Amino acid sequence: MPLLSIRDLVKIYQTDEGLFGKARREIRAVNGVSLDIAQGETLGLVGESGCGKTTLGRMILRLIEPTSGSITFNGRNVLAASSAELRRLRRDMQIIFQDPFASLNPRMRVEEIVTEPLVIHSQAANSLNRAENPSAGANSKTSLHDSAVEIMRAVGLDESALRRYPHEFSGGQRQRIGIARALILRPKFVVCDEPVSALDVSVGAQIVNLLKKLQRDFGLTYLFISHSMPVVRYLCDRIAVMRRGEIVEIGPSVEITSRPQHEYTRTLLEATPEPEFKLD
Ligand SMILES: Nc1ncnc2c1ncn2[C@@H]1O[C@H](COP(=O)(O)OP(=O)(O)OP(=O)(O)O)[C@@H](O)[C@H]1O
Ligand SMILES: [Mg+2]
Repeated sequence: MPLLSIRDLVKIYQTDEGLFGKARREIRAVNGVSLDIAQGETLGLVGESGCGKTTLGRMILRLIEPTSGSITFNGRNVLAASSAELRRLRRDMQIIFQDPFASLNPRMRVEEIVTEPLVIHSQAANSLNRAENPSAGANSKTSLHDSAVEIMRAVGLDESALRRYPHEFSGGQRQRIGIARALILRPKFVVCDEPVSALDVSVGAQIVNLLKKLQRDFGLTYLFISHSMPVVRYLCDRIAVMRRGEIVEIGPSVEITSRPQHEYTRTLLEATPEPEFKLD
């Protein structure tokens, strides 16, 4: 059984144009996508800007409400989940964003940033448990700090970084902070939305290698969104090629990159300007 199954997923954005919202325009950002992701797998999602990659990735986490279709995660119907179920599902499904500069609150210390998901989820759990177990959370401060130290080590940052602010770090280090925040709840599945696109090639390579190592250490499953064929070829088991809201081709990375069946995939492969992606 796959960890994640998507069937006929559709997202239509309605935009109001002109005065009084009379000229409504519909954008079919995702137009009937079906795919499965196996436990422990990395599926690459490639396609040109505006083809619907982010919309698809965010719908899986229900950060964007789908117009229609179905999403099954770990045997559960994501779109039918109650708010309590959704909260539990969100522990298991996280996202890493493209822009490490914009995605971290500049007024929060790194320790607050990386432990925030833990605080939010334990508050929700505590409010349910308090009646039965009034001492729940008594030593939560120390355990929060310990969790922060542990996850910082896992992403290759020194624990002294916890006392500092995002602007004190380089782009690559900030992305490590974003990864720490995404992984502190020990999710099963992570949507990586162009996590290295804003970084230099060499820094991006370090982050890609870190994601690979974390996948082994934490048993993660990834949906890795990118427009770079060399990156997905290196990192992903399979690649899905998306065009105008649809998957035009999906298969093992080697097949897709060496024997592309679709004209659009060939165009993407030829259009890749970056140098060949390097291993550590
Ligand atoms: N909130 C929104 N309202 C209306 N249209 C939107 C909205 N978000 C995205 N779109 C449109 O939906 C389409 C898909 O956008 P999306 O951001 O999912 O693409 P993408 O493949 O992630 O692009 P990029 O590679 O630039 O990140 C685009 O045409 C975009 O303009
Ligand atoms: Mg995007």
